[in-house]
Amino acid sequence: MHIQVAIIGAGPAGLLLARVLELAGIETAVLERRTPDYLRQRIRAGLLEQGTVDFLSEVGVAARLKRERLIHQGVKLAFGGKRVRIDLEGLAGRAVSIYGQAEIQKDLMDAHAGAGTTIIYEAQDVSLHGLTDSTPRVRYRQNGLTHEMACDFIAGCDGFHGVSRQAIPQEVISTYERVYPFAWLGLLSDTRPVNDELIYVNHERGFALCTMRSRTRSRYYLQVSAHEDIEDWSDDRFWTELKRRLPRDAARGLETGPSIEKSIAPLRSFVAEPLRYGRLFLAGDAAHIVPPTGAKGLNLAVADVRYLSRALIAYYRSGRTDLTDAYSETCLARVWKAQRFSWWMTNLTHRFPEASPFERRAQAAELAYLEGSRAAQTVLAENYVGLPLSE
Ligand code: APR
Ligand code: PHB
Repeated sequence: MHIQVAIIGAGPAGLLLARVLELAGIETAVLERRTPDYLRQRIRAGLLEQGTVDFLSEVGVAARLKRERLIHQGVKLAFGGKRVRIDLEGLAGRAVSIYGQAEIQKDLMDAHAGAGTTIIYEAQDVSLHGLTDSTPRVRYRQNGLTHEMACDFIAGCDGFHGVSRQAIPQEVISTYERVYPFAWLGLLSDTRPVNDELIYVNHERGFALCTMRSRTRSRYYLQVSAHEDIEDWSDDRFWTELKRRLPRDAARGLETGPSIEKSIAPLRSFVAEPLRYGRLFLAGDAAHIVPPTGAKGLNLAVADVRYLSRALIAYYRSGRTDLTDAYSETCLARVWKAQRFSWWMTNLTHRFPEASPFERRAQAAELAYLEGSRAAQTVLAENYVGLPLSE
């Protein structure tokens, strides 16, 4: 079987790329090791930059997003019993949208179901071959049979634990990593959000985040140790700890209830370079991971797909190779800025067990500076809403 572009992974990056290429008349096949049901029920983050909304709209998968999203013109920081509002719209001229990533996954899967795209679920033992040949091949097993697919290009959209990045020879790839000494314990509940905007809390007991999925469904996160066991966290213990970290008035108004979902996620900053090896292109979490503090994970994956799709369409339409050759550099320029912002937001809002008294004072001084400086708030705002996408 020969296909123009083989895509490994049916997460947001893989499905969005397949959507854009199919609309441009380029044949794709998506190989995914999980089942559709598994992909539909994954709970993830939910904050979208305007650039992400615009691109999803451009490719016709934003109708429900635009109907159901919440639009936020600001975001709040709470520390030392105080609260500072960052006026995103006023300082950076843009708002952000709240819409669960799980919903984007469903919208993309529905769009593909309607378009009859080739998505091979439960594809096991995917392996990549001949990446520097003119016709690379992908092998996979399904229902006990081994299949091989020849293609022009392979897009590695298989996340951090996928096979694509591993297929790039060690001597070619460089990786940059920061693993944080804590994790996020997240809880989803059908309760009224404690505030109409997000609150990022820096508290001596650790970070907390108040976010939401709708006006009746809330999402809260607590900083916990990196080795925390979810079994040790009853709903009651979660709510009690959250109340301790919130500003008093917010704690008083906090509506609690049974959790729908509760999970712990490690925090890491990771970048692999380059994002291209021969006919293989990496996009999304396969190439880079950000700590969720800056809400950049999904937005970066969408930006990668925007650049990669433009490059492949230019190749197929006019034989251009300048955009495919520039893909890695173009993406990494944006990736590193989002990495810096996400790392900075994490340093600003979390308590580091190994921090010295000097570092604690410096963190407090940075928060005080942010409180009093329009310039500092503007820097936060313009990074939070998303830096302009280069053409
Ligand atoms: N073979 C086939 N499929 C695979 C393999 C493999 N060996 N390894 C992983 N996959 C699939 C996973 O099952 C998953 O569905 O690749 C998909 C990767 O999807 P994501 O992890 O969602 O990555 P991506 O599409 O890049 O989305 C990035 O997702 O996790 C968030 O914060 C992250 O927002 C970011 C976004
Ligand atoms: C979320 O809504 O889950 C969310 C929002 C902002 C973040 C991280 C997670 O920074």
